Amino acid sequence: MRDIIQGKRLLIRRVQEHDLDYLLKWWNDSQVMASVGFPDGLSLSMKDMETKYWPQWRDDPEGFQRIICLNDGTPIGEANFHNYYIEESSVQIGLKICLPELWNQGLGTEALQMMIHYAFEVLKVDRVYVNPAKTNHPVIRINEKCCFRTIGETEGGGLLMELKRELWEKKI
Ligand SMILES: CC(C)(COP(=O)(O)OP(=O)(O)OC[C@H]1O[C@@H](n2cnc3c(N)ncnc32)[C@H](O)[C@@H]1OP(=O)(O)O)[C@@H](O)C(=O)NCCC(=O)NCCS
Repeated sequence: MRDIIQGKRLLIRRVQEHDLDYLLKWWNDSQVMASVGFPDGLSLSMKDMETKYWPQWRDDPEGFQRIICLNDGTPIGEANFHNYYIEESSVQIGLKICLPELWNQGLGTEALQMMIHYAFEVLKVDRVYVNPAKTNHPVIRINEKCCFRTIGETEGGGLLMELKRELWEKKI
């Protein structure tokens, strides 16, 4: 497990307790959360963050909940790994750039590439996947730019998109 993933313009680091303020603001933000199915935000309180979320993240030896920062340390979003199954050699990636004024500058694509690299090189999985809503065109676009292919739909009506190690190794 590495606490920091370093990229060109970004670093993605393990979440820390002082990040709860940012996450609370972002998760309650209707603009950030609309495309993931919460047009009014999540309406969470700091108590929710401290009692429901922080204990899991703090105690997770893998450090799978992460904060995306600019290289100067400014937090701009979150990324996470979930559904990590060693037997299936796969992991799911989620990410958000939570400052809308930074959208469409290539930061989401860079963050996704960093998470993919970590999944294949550090977690050593053979397959990564993402579950975007069919209407979330920006995230579908960044997934395609990172060579994910749509292989089906999820029960909730989203897309199931995957990237296998063999293809990723050919493309890098
Ligand atoms: C999805 C998200 C991570 C993208 O981040 P970003 O920094 O804007 O991504 P990039 O700038 O690297 O790429 C965005 C791409 O989407 C394209 N795009 C933007 N709006 C679009 C639209 N309405 N339809 C089609 N493509 C669109 C951009 O043109 C760009 O593609 P290009 O580089 O080929 O021009 C960001 O918008 C976000 O966090 N949204 C809110 C949360 C979310 O939806 N997370 C994903 C959960 S599955």
